[in-house]
Amino acid sequence: MPPYGVLLSLFLISSYNSVNAALPATPDDYDVLQYIDPLIGTANGGNVFAGATLPYGMAKAVADTNSESNQGGFAFDKSNVTGFSSMHDSGTGGSPSLGNFPLFAYAQCANDTVDGCIFPKKARATPYINSSVQAHPGYFAISLASGLTVDMTAAHHTTLFRFNFTDATSPLVLLDLSDLSDSRQDNATISVDNSTGRMTGSAKFLPSFGSGTYTLHFCADFKSSGDLRDSGIFVDARASTDVHDLKISRSINGYPLPGGGFVRFNAPSDGTVQARVGVSFISPDQACAHAESEISDFDFEATHQAAVDKWTEKMAPIRVSTNGVDSSVLTNFYSGIYRTMVNPQNYTGENPIWTSSEPYFDSFYCLWDSFRSQIPFLTLTDPSAVAEMVRSLIDTQRHLGWLPDCRMSLCKGYTQGGSNADNILADAYVKGLTDGIDWDDGYAAVQKDAEEEPYDWSNEGRGGLQSWKELNFIPVEDFDYLGFGTMTRSISRTLEYSYNDFAIAQIARGMNKTADAEKYEKNSGFWRSLFKSDQTSFLNKTNTGFVGFFQPKYLNETWGYQDPLKCSNIDNSGSICSLQNTGAETFESSIWEYQFFVPHDMAALISLLGGPDSFVKRLDYLHDKNITYIGNEPAFLTVFQYHYAGRPAKSTSRVRTYIPDYFSPTPSGLPGNDDSGAMGSFVAMSMMGLFPNPGQSVYLITVPFFESVSIASPLTGKTATVKVINWANFNSLNNTGGSGFIQSATLNGQPYTRNWVDHDFFTEGQELVLVLGRNESTWGTGADDLPPSLSTSSGVQARGLGGYDDLEKREPFIAGGQMAKQFDRYTHSA
Ligand SMILES: *[C@@H]1O[C@H](CO)[C@@H](O)[C@H](O)[C@H]1NC(C)=O
Ligand SMILES: *[C@@H]1O[C@H](CO)[C@@H](O)[C@H](O)[C@H]1NC(C)=O
Ligand SMILES: *[C@@H]1O[C@H](CO)[C@@H](O)[C@H](O)[C@H]1NC(C)=O
Ligand SMILES: *[C@@H]1O[C@H](CO)[C@@H](O)[C@H](O)[C@H]1NC(C)=O
Ligand SMILES: *[C@@H]1O[C@H](CO)[C@@H](O)[C@H](O)[C@H]1NC(C)=O
Ligand SMILES: *[C@@H]1O[C@H](CO)[C@@H](O)[C@H](O)[C@H]1NC(C)=O
Ligand SMILES: *[C@@H]1O[C@H](CO)[C@@H](O)[C@H](O)[C@H]1NC(C)=O
Ligand SMILES: *[C@@H]1O[C@H](CO)[C@@H](O)[C@H](O)[C@H]1NC(C)=O
Ligand SMILES: *[C@@H]1O[C@H](CO)[C@@H](O)[C@H](O)[C@H]1NC(C)=O
Ligand SMILES: *[C@@H]1O[C@H](CO)[C@@H](O)[C@H](O)[C@H]1NC(C)=O
Ligand SMILES: *[C@@H]1O[C@H](CO)[C@@H](O)[C@H](O)[C@H]1NC(C)=O
Ligand SMILES: *[C@@H]1O[C@H](CO)[C@@H](O)[C@H](O)[C@H]1NC(C)=O
Repeated sequence: MPPYGVLLSLFLISSYNSVNAALPATPDDYDVLQYIDPLIGTANGGNVFAGATLPYGMAKAVADTNSESNQGGFAFDKSNVTGFSSMHDSGTGGSPSLGNFPLFAYAQCANDTVDGCIFPKKARATPYINSSVQAHPGYFAISLASGLTVDMTAAHHTTLFRFNFTDATSPLVLLDLSDLSDSRQDNATISVDNSTGRMTGSAKFLPSFGSGTYTLHFCADFKSSGDLRDSGIFVDARASTDVHDLKISRSINGYPLPGGGFVRFNAPSDGTVQARVGVSFISPDQACAHAESEISDFDFEATHQAAVDKWTEKMAPIRVSTNGVDSSVLTNFYSGIYRTMVNPQNYTGENPIWTSSEPYFDSFYCLWDSFRSQIPFLTLTDPSAVAEMVRSLIDTQRHLGWLPDCRMSLCKGYTQGGSNADNILADAYVKGLTDGIDWDDGYAAVQKDAEEEPYDWSNEGRGGLQSWKELNFIPVEDFDYLGFGTMTRSISRTLEYSYNDFAIAQIARGMNKTADAEKYEKNSGFWRSLFKSDQTSFLNKTNTGFVGFFQPKYLNETWGYQDPLKCSNIDNSGSICSLQNTGAETFESSIWEYQFFVPHDMAALISLLGGPDSFVKRLDYLHDKNITYIGNEPAFLTVFQYHYAGRPAKSTSRVRTYIPDYFSPTPSGLPGNDDSGAMGSFVAMSMMGLFPNPGQSVYLITVPFFESVSIASPLTGKTATVKVINWANFNSLNNTGGSGFIQSATLNGQPYTRNWVDHDFFTEGQELVLVLGRNESTWGTGADDLPPSLSTSSGVQARGLGGYDDLEKREPFIAGGQMAKQFDRYTHSA
C-alpha cells in the first residue's frame, strides 16, 4: 500500500519537527536510596530479605521470625521474632534458607540467674512492634514487646548488631547453634572465651532446595559499656557459667537440641551491647579475620555509611525523570533494581570445595528464574559483576563437572527443567562480555549439557538425552537407565531443552563453530515434535475454540494427554505441579502458558498457531482468562510477546495491567516469591520500557513509566536514553501505569520503526525518542519491524555476524504487510 506508507511518513516527519522543541528534560539527579524500600515483598509470600547487606553481600543481618513465610528471615505478618542472624537468601521458595547462629538478648535474667533467661528458640519467640520496623539499604531496626530495640548493619562477611535495652541491669546475649529451618546436623561446636566473651564455632546444615550439606563457621565479639560479667554455654533450657566449650549432637529424635553460648554484662551506662558476627565457610579463624578487618572498632555509623556508599554507587547507572510521577512509582522501580543485587552472593575466597583463583558466586537461586530478566538486567548496569558470575559458573563446571542450574549454600540445587546456565552464558556471550571469561571452557560446559547425561540429573544437566537425540523429544514415561531424576515435565523439558540448544548455538555461531551452530539450531526446533495440531482445550466444559496444543508423547510416538489447563492458575484441582507434586508434564505452569515458550523462533510458533491474529487471540485469552500467573517466571515473556505478532501496543497495555496492580511498593506488593530478585528485575525492566528476550541481543520496546530513562553503561561510559514525547498528556500522579501508545520513534535522530533495540543501544549510548498518542498506531507493526526469529532471519541474532542492518540504510517508514490491516480495528480498552 504505497500511498498509505508515504502519507504516514510525511505525517511522522512533520510531527517530529513540531515536537522537537518540547523534548523532555534529561533525567534528574537525586538521592536514589530514598526510593528503596527493602520491606516490599516481606508479606504475602514474597519472602524477600528485608535486612542489612552489601550488594551481593555474604553477611545479611535481619530479625528472624517464626512466620510460615520466613524464607528470608523477617516476615511482616503476625509472627514473632526468634533471633537475629547473619546469613540469608532472598525471595526464595523451598525451605527457609540459612539464618544460621542467631543471637537473642535479654535485659537481665529472672532472679539474676542465667537459668532465669529463656534459651530455646521456640520458647523465646517474642512479638515485635509493627510500627518499629525500619529498613533501608545497609540498615534494619526493630523493637520487641520485651522493650529491646535492635538495629543492625553489615559489611561483606560481618554483621554488626546494637542491642538497646530499656532498664538493663545485667544484659545477656546468647548465640544459638541453629538455622531457620532447624536443619543442623551432628556435632556442632562452640567455644566461649571466658576473658573476652568471644564465641567461635562451626556447624553443619542442609541447603534449602538442594542436595548435600554445608558447614559454616562464626566468630562473635561483644562490646558494651558494662563490663563482661560472666559467660558460658547452654543446652536446651539450662545454662552454666562454668562450662565454656560445647559439642552438641542433632539429638536422637531429629529435632536439633537447643544449644549455644552466652555472655552477660554488668549494667551498661548507655543501655546497649553490641555484637559483631563474622562468618566464613573456611574456618572460625577466617570468620574472626573478616570481622576484625571489616568492622575493626565496632563503628556502627561508619559501617552503615560504607554500605550506603556502596549501594549509591551500584544504583548510579539508572536515572529517570521524576517529572509527574508519584514517589511510590519511583519506590517500586528502584526497590526492584535493589533486589536484583541482594542475591546472587559473592563468596569469592570463601569456597572450601575447590582451590581456584576464579571468582566464586553462590545463591543462584535458581537460574530458571534469573536467566529471564535478572542477569540480563545486571548485564546492563553491572557487567563486571555478571562477568564474575559467569566465570564462577564456568569454574563450578570445571571442578564439579556440571554447570549449576540452581546453587545455594555451597550445594547443588534442584533442576527445574532445562539446563538454564546455557541461557545465561549465551546472554553474556551475545552481549559481548569478555572480561576474564574463558569462552572455550564456557562453550565446552554448555555443550556438555547438551551431549552428556549426568547420572543424577535432578541436580544438574538434562535427563532423557538418549530419547532426545533419537526421537527429538522427551517422552512421557521415558525409558532412561543412564541417569536419574524426576520423570515428569516431559513437555516443559522438551521446550526448555530446545531453547537451551538455541542458546548453545548462539555461542557456537559467535565462535565460528558453524557445524555445531547448525546442529544446535536444528535441535532448537525439536519443540515442534510435541505439537498436536488437532488438540482442543476446554475451559469449564466450554470449548475455548483454539485448536493445536503441545501434548505429551510416548516412546512409541503415540500421543498421551494432559489437559492444556492443568497446572494453570485456574486449575480447579489446585495442582501447582512443583517438583514434589509428581505427575504433570509441565513444571509449575500449564501447556497453555508453555505453548508460548519458543523465545528464539516466535515467527515459526506464530505461524504454527495460525498466524498473528490467531496468535494474539491466544495470548489475550491466556491473560484475560487469568490462566497465566504473573507471580511465576514463565509468565514474564508472555507479557511482551505481542511484539512478535506486530502488536507492540498490546504489550504496553499488558504491562499496565500487571504493574502496579500485581507489583506494588508495599510489604504484600509482590504476587509470588521474588526468587532472588527475578521479580524485581521484571518490575525494573518493564518500567524502563525495554524488556529482554534473553540469550539474544533483543530488547522489546514498550512505553516506559517515566518521561525519560537513562542507563549508563559501566563498560563504555556511554549513556543510553529513552525519552517520551507527549508523556504528560497520558500520565498523571493518579494514573501510575499511564496511558497512550507509541505513534512514532527516532533512534539517534533517525526515524525508527522497529519495535525492539539491540544491545548496542546500551553500550553505544543511543537515544530513543518515543512519541505518544491516544490509540494504537502503525508503529512497530510492519513485517520488518519485528524482532528476529531463528527461522526467518538466519544468523541475525548472533553478535558480530553482520545480521543487523545499518540504521542508515533503512527506509524511513515501512508500513508492514498483513499486520498493517489490523490497526483501525483495534481500540485500546484495558
Ligand atoms: C505492619 O505495618 C506495615 C507497614 O505499616 C503494614 O503494611 C502491615 O500491614 C502491618 N502488619 C501487621 C501485621 O499489622
Ligand atoms: C507470638 O507471641 C504471642 C505472645 O507470646 C503469642 O500470643 C502468639 O501466639 C505468638 N505468635 C506466634 C506466631 O508465635
Ligand atoms: C525466681 O525466684 C522465685 C522465688 O524464689 C521462684 O519462685 C521462681 O521460680 C524463680 N524463677 C526462676 C525463673 O528461676
Ligand atoms: C537506646 O534507645 C533509647 C530510647 O530509644 C535512645 O534514646 C538511645 O539513644 C539509644 N541508645 C543508643 C546507644 O542507640
Ligand atoms: C560426633 O561426635 C561423637 C562423639 O565424639 C562421635 O561418636 C560421632 O561419630 C560424631 N559424629 C559425626 C557425624 O561426626
Ligand atoms: C573466668 O574468669 C574469671 C576471672 O576472669 C575467673 O574468676 C573464673 O574462674 C573463670 N572461669 C572459668 C570457668 O574459667
Ligand atoms: C567479589 O568478591 C571479591 C573478593 O572480595 C572481590 O574482589 C570482587 O570485586 C567482588 N565482586 C563483586 C562483583 O562485588
Ligand atoms: C569468526 O569469523 C569472522 C569472519 O571470518 C571473523 O571476523 C571473526 O573474528 C571470527 N570469530 C572468532 C571468534 O573466531
Ligand atoms: C469456571 O467455573 C468455576 C466454578 O464454576 C468458576 O469459579 C470460574 O470462574 C470459571 N472460570 C472461568 C474462567 O470462567
Ligand atoms: C504406546 O505406549 C502407550 C504407553 O505405554 C500405550 O498406552 C499405547 O497403547 C502404545 N501405542 C501403541 C500403538 O502401541
Ligand atoms: C486469578 O487467579 C488468582 C489465583 O487463583 C485469584 O486469586 C484471582 O482472584 C484471579 N483473578 C481474576 C481476575 O479472576
Ligand atoms: C490525584 O493525586 C493527588 C496527589 O496524590 C491527590 O491529591 C488527588 O486527590 C488525586 N485526585 C484524584 C481525582 O484521585
